[in-house]
Amino acid sequence: MTHAHISTWAIALILFVVVLILTKAGKAKGAKITSMVLRLFYILIVVTGLQLGWGWITNGQYVLKMVLGIVVIGLMEMIAVRTRKGKPTVVFWVLFIVALAYILHLGFSLPM
Ligand code: HEM
Repeated sequence: MTHAHISTWAIALILFVVVLILTKAGKAKGAKITSMVLRLFYILIVVTGLQLGWGWITNGQYVLKMVLGIVVIGLMEMIAVRTRKGKPTVVFWVLFIVALAYILHLGFSLPM
């Protein structure tokens, strides 16, 4: 299950970059399709994460990991949408990088 969780978020990160590249390149249709696949992976990340953490739901660090996971997903979506609309994304990038670094640290340091 851990393996599935890592695979899903790793693929999601790649798709996220692909969406940004396609958007910047003006390939609206490709970006849209890739965004939809990316959203499917968001669901898979949450499902595999919940499966991993369900038995630990009373542990504060796990709750933090899960909430932060959803925050990271939210930030990816905000960056993708704002890039498409041509709005500023700097604040979201900073938050995203901080949250991602912290969640990677938290994920790998949690006991499972
Ligand atoms: C982009 C978002 C996410 C990233 C980058 C991420 C990253 C990670 C990493 C690096 C691990 C450690 C894997 C290992 O120990 O081999 C992990 C484990 C875990 N993740 Fe996530 N995760 C994300 C989203 C989520 C979400 C949304 C949830 C729950 C709803 C979640 C719940 C968990 C749980 C419960 C574990 C097991 C922790 C343990 O090792 O004991 N994650 N995640």
